[in-house]
Amino acid sequence: MRETIIGMNVSLAANLLNEGQVVAVPTETVYGLAANALNVSAVMDIFRIKGRPEFDPLIVHCLNKEQAFSYALNLPDLAFKLAESFWPGPLTLVLQSNGEIPSEVTSGLPTVALRVPSHPLFQELLNLLNFPLAAPSANPFGYVSPTTAEHVYAQLGSKIPYILNGGPCQYGLESTIVGFDKDLPVILRLGALTLKEIKTICPKLKIQLKSLSNPKSPGQLSVHYAPSKKVIFIHNQDVPPPSHSNMAFLSFGGQPIPEGYTELSLSKNGDYFEAARNLYKLLRTFDSGPWSELVTTALPEDDSGLAMAINDRLTRAAAQSITHL
Ligand code: TXA
Ligand code: MG
Repeated sequence: MRETIIGMNVSLAANLLNEGQVVAVPTETVYGLAANALNVSAVMDIFRIKGRPEFDPLIVHCLNKEQAFSYALNLPDLAFKLAESFWPGPLTLVLQSNGEIPSEVTSGLPTVALRVPSHPLFQELLNLLNFPLAAPSANPFGYVSPTTAEHVYAQLGSKIPYILNGGPCQYGLESTIVGFDKDLPVILRLGALTLKEIKTICPKLKIQLKSLSNPKSPGQLSVHYAPSKKVIFIHNQDVPPPSHSNMAFLSFGGQPIPEGYTELSLSKNGDYFEAARNLYKLLRTFDSGPWSELVTTALPEDDSGLAMAINDRLTRAAAQSITHL
C-alpha cells in the first residue's frame, strides 16, 4: 500500500469509497474507518484492517433519517422522536433490520445500528455518495478511539489510502447507543449524547451496559478503549502517593493529588464536556510518554450523566481496578 495521505479533499474520499476502498473520516464523536455498507468485500476489509472480530457489528452512517429508517422495520414511536430531536448528532439507534444491510455489517443480528453524523465534512461526503457508510472507530480493535487525523495515522497509516481531516472531534467520546426492548428504550452504550438529553424524550428507559453472557452490543466487552500500558482506576477518592518516580495521574477539576505524580488534567475547571474531549487524547499522551502507569479516580457524578459515560471508559481502560487500598 502507498503511504497514507491526510487531507481535506472530500471528492477524493468519495472516489476511493466508490472504488470499494476503506477511508478514515471525521465525525463529531471520534474518527471512523469507513467503507460502503452495501459492499461486502469493502466491509470485510474494515474488519481486517482493524483486527476486529467478525461477531462485533458495525454502525451504518446515513445522510439523514429517511435514509437511515429505510433500512429498519417496526420502528418504535420513540425511535422517531429521538431521531427527530438528536439527528444529525451523536446518537446511534439499534433497530430491527429489514435485511438490506448485509449480514457481514450486522454480524448476523436481526438488528442494525444506524446513525446520522453531524460533522460537516462527513455530511458533505455522504451527499456525494449513493450508499451509506459502515464505520467503526478508526483504531485497532480494543485500543483507544482516535479524536484527530494524526491519531488515526499513528496506528493505521500505511493500511489505508486516505484520512479525511476534519480537525479535532467536537465531543471526543463515541455516540450513545439506544436499542429497544419492545417499546422501552435501552441504553446499550453511554456516550456523547447525555442521559439528561435522552430523558427529555424518554423519561422511562433502561440502562443495560453489561451483559456478559450475551453482549447485545459487543462494545460492552469489559476490556476496551485501553492504552497498551497500565491504567489503575481507584474507586475511592483517597489516592496513595506514587510507588515509583514515573507515574502519571489523570485528574479532573481542582482535585488534590499527592506529590510525585505528573498531572494530566482532563479539565482544570471541572467541565465535563472538556473532559470528554480530552479523555482519549490524554490516554494516548500517557501511552506514548515516559510514564509506566496512569492512576485515575471516578469523576464525581453530574446532572447530565456525562460523568457516567467517562467513568465507564476509564474503568474499561483500566487494566487493574482497585477498590480498597
Ligand atoms: O461515535 C461512534 O459511534 C463512532 C463513530 C465512528 O460513528 N463509531 C463507533 O463504532 O464507536 P464502534 O464500532 O467502535 O462501536 C460500535 C458499537 C459496537 O460496540 C458494536 O458492537 C455496537 O456498536 N453495535 C453495532 N451494531 C449493533 C447491533 N445491531 N446491536 C447492538 N450493538 C451494535
Ligand atoms: Mg470502537
